[in-house]
Amino acid sequence: MCAMAFPVPRTCPFDLPAGYAALRTERPVSRVRLPDGQLAWLVTRYEDVRRLATDPRISADRGHPNSPYTELVTAQGRAAIAAVGRSLIGLDPPEHGPRRRMLMPEFTVRRVNGLRPHIQRVVDESIAALLAGPRPAELVTALALPVTSTVICELLGVPYADRDFFLDRAAVQVRRDVPPERRRQAGGELRAYLDRLVTGKERDGGDDLLSRLAARRNAEFDHDQLVGLAMLLLIAGFESTASMIVLGVVVLLEHGGAAAVPKDPAALGLAVEELLRYLSIVDTMPRVATADIEVGGVTIPAGDGVLLSFASANHDADTFDDPAGLRLGRGSRQHVAFGYGAHQCLGQNLARAELEIVFRSLFTRVPGLRLAVPLADLPFKRDASVYGLDRLPVTW
Ligand code: HEM
Repeated sequence: MCAMAFPVPRTCPFDLPAGYAALRTERPVSRVRLPDGQLAWLVTRYEDVRRLATDPRISADRGHPNSPYTELVTAQGRAAIAAVGRSLIGLDPPEHGPRRRMLMPEFTVRRVNGLRPHIQRVVDESIAALLAGPRPAELVTALALPVTSTVICELLGVPYADRDFFLDRAAVQVRRDVPPERRRQAGGELRAYLDRLVTGKERDGGDDLLSRLAARRNAEFDHDQLVGLAMLLLIAGFESTASMIVLGVVVLLEHGGAAAVPKDPAALGLAVEELLRYLSIVDTMPRVATADIEVGGVTIPAGDGVLLSFASANHDADTFDDPAGLRLGRGSRQHVAFGYGAHQCLGQNLARAELEIVFRSLFTRVPGLRLAVPLADLPFKRDASVYGLDRLPVTW
């Protein structure tokens, strides 16, 4: 069987890569060749993705030599990703469960509700600055990044005095119009900063996530693990939510703008679920088979890399009616935009709160919002592992 080159870029802004629909019906588990030349298995059907996401013979270990990378990464980059992975997202049983349970109280609906006033405040401030500034404005830097990075600051307990440094480096790290060397430098500075921050929390304590975790350190969960976890929360929680904010705004604008955003909180929640499913910004997540596994008519041999396509699963016509269509009223949590199984997104309640507050506030305060350039001219991140936009020029 010949291996298809992967990833396949999206060509229409909101459609998944062409070919996923055919794969689901013809070769639901198919061989793909990654940018570094490695081969892996791409799993595209909803039922198969969910089955494998909960299969004990599947490992999430990002340090495994066959863990599939959908972007070209240096050996140094692989080692850094594997190290961050060992803090949680790349752990398997028996280590993963206890580590996740340590973190779960930090992400309950109650905790997230406690963060809502902070989120609302930063959204209101960003919108006020937007309205007071020139037109057109750019929504990635004016709204999406300030909101998501401030939420991470609240969560990790970054002191106010350090916020400008932190927000600046965090923003640089995800901007692709900044040279790679400067982005790497910003990433290194952030890691060094988080190391110092964790050291301070270990010494002085405080009322935030890192301080509470620092107080529970033990032989398996040491200083480096805690720094890795802080890095993971930064990476996992920051760019994906910012991408959902800007892409969500564009989709809503394309579907009627302010009129499309439900006033009723429950209906708004459903609309956010449908946007998450429809956009499916995190396409694949890497796994490795630890035993021979039969799925979708093939046997994945032990040791092979596996990519679970949550995006393809979310567009499987066997599970969702008219999957390519956006129906804001149908939203349900049946989608797998936050993954499925043991590693399902820990920050999902937080992401939902951010999205609801941003969409409601933005379209209420700026009902005349519109794109400042044609849709086709927007710089979509077609080749990035998290789909998004580099810039979103808007006016009103
Ligand atoms: C719209 C925004 C977001 C999307 C689409 C998203 C998506 C995902 C997905 C698909 C996974 C599963 C990974 C896997 O199966 O290997 C995941 C895991 C995770 N996410 Fe999110 N995420 C978002 C926001 C956040 C936020 C705001 C945070 C925290 C501040 C966060 C923290 C995490 C963590 C810690 C994990 C790993 C959980 C584990 O391994 O047990 N995410 N996310």
